[in-house]
Formats: sequence, C-alpha cells, structure tokens
Amino acid sequence: MALHAIGRIRTPWQNLNECPRNITVDGETCTLEIDPRLSEGLTGLKAGDKIALLYWLDRANCDRLQRPSRRTGEIKGVFALRTPHRPNPIGLASIEIIAIDGTHISVRGLDCLDGTILLDIKPQNGASSGQQPSLD
Ligand SMILES: C[S@@+](CC[C@H](N)C(=O)[O-])C[C@H]1O[C@@H](n2cnc3c(N)ncnc32)[C@H](O)[C@@H]1O
Repeated sequence: MALHAIGRIRTPWQNLNECPRNITVDGETCTLEIDPRLSEGLTGLKAGDKIALLYWLDRANCDRLQRPSRRTGEIKGVFALRTPHRPNPIGLASIEIIAIDGTHISVRGLDCLDGTILLDIKPQNGASSGQQPSLD
C-alpha cells in the first residue's frame, strides 16, 4: 500500500499545545496548499462547497490501544476515540471551502499542526458543515 501527499495544510499552530482539540466552525483561517502537479484534480471545487479532508498526523505515537477520553476520562479503545494516536494516524475533518486561489484553498478551524500532510479531499454531498464528531 502506498500513500502520497497531495499537499500540506498551513495552520497557525506550531506546537501540539496550541492546536484546537478538534474542528471549530468559526476557527482560524487555514490554507490547503495542493501540489501544483495535481491542480487538475481541483476542477469543480468552489467556495461554499462542503468537503472532507483526510490528513496524516505525523507526530502521533501509537504506543497503546486504549486511552482515556479527553472529554470524559473514560478508558476506551482508540477506535472508539478521535485520538491522533492510532495505528494509522489519519485525521478527518468536515469543513467548508472559503475561497480557492489556484492551488491554495482557504478553510477555517482546522485542528492540526502547520505543515501537516494532506492525503485527500472528498466532497461532502448533502452533509452539513456544522455537524462535527464528538471531541473524543
Ligand atoms: C483529536 S485529533 C482530531 C483530528 C481530526 N479532526 C479527527 O477527528 O480525526 C486533533 C489533535 O491532534 C493533534 N495533532 C494535530 N496535528 C498533529 C500532527 N501533525 N501529529 C500528531 N498530532 C497532531 C493535536 O493535539 C490536536 O488537538
């Protein structure tokens, strides 16, 4: 199996302590910098579209399969949590496009470090941008 970065996510967050715990609809403006070689793949996307992002949480550390929920403290398996510390440290965000300028896509409220690798963008047909998963 091979995964390839499609770009980088630019956020204001330089260290993990600064990162929001999860997506915030009215959070800071962030930019998806798409690899220019993949620009054709953006055809059809526009401001206002709801999209799902998949990103690689490269500084995660999957040293155990159970962790306390950050919300309740209850011990749960990583597949019952949103924790970045999992066998495949893939982050998921449902978000709205603010603007597109060439291969730069502006969005709001991401929860990852500056420079995080972007794996994929998918349209969220029929999904509501206001609905986010729980903070677990
Ligand atoms: C709880 S995860 C949720 C990620 C995604 N929204 C999801 O639901 O899959 C978000 C947290 O991951 C951590 N994080 C952000 N960027 C990271 C990175 N590049 N490597 C490891 N951890 C990261 C931060 O502590 C942030 O608060």
